Amino acid sequence: MRRCALFATLLSFAGCLQSESGSDVDGPTWHAEVAPLLADRCGACHTDGGIAPFSVQTYDDAAPWASAMADSVQSGRMPPFFATESDECDMQIDFLDDVRLSDEEKTLLSDWADAGAPQGDPATAAPTPMREVNHLENPDAVVKLPQPFEVSGDRDIYQCFRVEVGNTEDIWLTGLEVIPDNDLVVHHVLVWNDPEDNSAQRAGADGSYRCSGQPDVWPSELVAAWTPGGSPTRSPEGSGSLFHPGAVLVVNVHYHPTGTTTEIDQTEVALTWTDEQPANHTTWYLMDIPFGAESDGQFQIPAGEAAHTETVSLTVPNLIPWDLPVFAITPHMHYLGTEMLVTQRSDDGDTCLIHAPNYRFDFQTQYVYDRNSGQLPVISPGDTIDVRCTYDNSPSNPFLDLQLEAAGESNPHDVGWGEETGDEMCMAMVGLLIPPIDWLQIAGGF
Ligand code: HEC
Repeated sequence: MRRCALFATLLSFAGCLQSESGSDVDGPTWHAEVAPLLADRCGACHTDGGIAPFSVQTYDDAAPWASAMADSVQSGRMPPFFATESDECDMQIDFLDDVRLSDEEKTLLSDWADAGAPQGDPATAAPTPMREVNHLENPDAVVKLPQPFEVSGDRDIYQCFRVEVGNTEDIWLTGLEVIPDNDLVVHHVLVWNDPEDNSAQRAGADGSYRCSGQPDVWPSELVAAWTPGGSPTRSPEGSGSLFHPGAVLVVNVHYHPTGTTTEIDQTEVALTWTDEQPANHTTWYLMDIPFGAESDGQFQIPAGEAAHTETVSLTVPNLIPWDLPVFAITPHMHYLGTEMLVTQRSDDGDTCLIHAPNYRFDFQTQYVYDRNSGQLPVISPGDTIDVRCTYDNSPSNPFLDLQLEAAGESNPHDVGWGEETGDEMCMAMVGLLIPPIDWLQIAGGF
């Protein structure tokens, strides 16, 4: 474009315009390179009616965002897929649904923005199929929160809903998709199996109860976690999560009220299952600071520190008689969390399970290993897992205001462990394949 302006004095204006929209523009153009790249990597969310603030479906929608897009991919804020190879993490296996951009693709977006977002020639347009929103195919059932729920006020609400599935035989859940009803207020959703229906005693007439970030009933087991833009939870082929007749789902919704309006939500959950016993069961192990340790003051993120780390370690007891393949990991921290590294120490050396710099509370992406690209990592008894969390409790953290609001504070302050959004956590949700035993029944005996 700059070249065009220079030549404008020599060439006819019409000729210049033509070269601007014509095929002889230097560098990348919308039609030739940019549109297909954005459609594939950003299109699942940045689409008309999608969860993101603008669409990349047409030139007119996307061009005004050219610089912002280049900046967001350079800084690693977008796309919200944060797992990566790094000096600290030599991954041996890929992740599914990896929408990251290569360095060349990032440069392409910067060059395009620097050149003033040229449109190029529609005749050179490459095919631009928008990435499909990743839905669960052919659900066996779609269940709903028992009643519409009113969300108002200005404090976050964790509400647990008791949801019946209605199966009359044992089933093994293989897929689960949360379909949020009111996007304005549904912040994130955890779905638990409550095998003994203990939530019946907790729930009021509307089938729900106020709870912490957990279902607050035992025994219980996490079966899926969802945040905006997240994919459905699918268990690897030949595995599933045992669900007895009479069990219920506890759908734990974290609502973030608008502060000014009363909103109504009745979120749904789509399920797929098999009624044939699979070779493996799946379970999510929540690796967090040890029970009771929150009160010893060890976990403390000092006010003003921009890169404070906490490490949570766990050695798998030798009592456990199996090797445990890991199929997925979801890092979980709150607004101060900026980076998570999960590594495994074993007799054979160290293995990196995931490194997620640029972590963000608003996108708690679930990272699922692609079994076609390598062997699943396997945790053996005696191995130690280290979860290292990094926090920014300083004004350089763009989410500090949200943290302060959630904590009801006006200045940075020391932050300790806790489940409220204004506290912090250092939790890796680790998706494991286990032998087909009814471990919840065993756990319920304790
Ligand atoms: C999983 C869904 C998702 C994907 C994939 C995604 N975005 Fe976003 N994007 C969002 C949401 C939601 C927001 C608004 C909330 C926010 O920024 O926190 C957003 C905001 C943005 C913004 C404005 C805020 C900022 O950080 O500058 C830009 C620019 C952006 N996205 C660019 C991109 C680009 C470029 C891609 C693809 C390379 C992409 N996004 C992929 C969901 C997504």
